[in-house]
Amino acid sequence: MSIEIEILSGDASWPRAKPLFDAVWPPDVVAALPWAGIAFAHAELWVLIETPQGIGCHVGLYRREAKWNERRVRVGGIGGVLTRADCRRRGFASVALNAAIQTLKDEGAMDFALLFCEPKNAAFYDDRGWTPFLGEVYAEQAGERVRFDAIAPHVFDLRRAPRQGVIDLCGLPW
Ligand SMILES: CC(C)(COP(=O)(O)OP(=O)(O)OC[C@H]1O[C@@H](n2cnc3c(N)ncnc32)[C@H](O)[C@@H]1OP(=O)(O)O)[C@@H](O)C(=O)NCCC(=O)NCCS
Repeated sequence: MSIEIEILSGDASWPRAKPLFDAVWPPDVVAALPWAGIAFAHAELWVLIETPQGIGCHVGLYRREAKWNERRVRVGGIGGVLTRADCRRRGFASVALNAAIQTLKDEGAMDFALLFCEPKNAAFYDDRGWTPFLGEVYAEQAGERVRFDAIAPHVFDLRRAPRQGVIDLCGLPW
């Protein structure tokens, strides 16, 4: 089966991705997740995999001027990694993640990619070249800088390979 990947920008893509979010993360499911109630940034770019039944997989991309140990770093954020239940185990999320990483590499000057996930998904990302970040992460919530530890950070090395210390997202998490 051939699949079509699109990389789109802006909130205009939201109506196309929304049915997938509603199917995988309906409000009652989200309410039980560790990140329920957290305010997240909106993705700047969207990797979408189209199937005849609609969007089968989504990965959101964020670009952020952040800090690592007080040093300015350019971080490529990845979030909202979702595959529709009937499309799983066909490599969709892997292909979409690769497209997201390639997009960050093509932009150049990106220090590392960063995503946050529940412990149950850590092995999925480990198998795809991501490494746990063992330090502390801070982010903005309700206009304040707060410790962000509801979901665990994982790094994909680009120009830098942070493992420890303090990452300040300098804005909302993703
Ligand atoms: C996690 C998820 C995105 C994977 O999507 P997918 O399109 O099925 O992924 P791929 O087809 O690229 O990879 C599937 C492989 O990953 C493995 N895998 C899936 N979830 C895993 C997990 N939690 N831990 C370890 N391996 C996992 C599968 O067993 C499969 O292995 P195989 O190829 O040996 O059969 C999908 O299960 C999903 O949408 N889950 C619900 C939402 C979610 O939790 N998203 C992650 C947010 S951080």
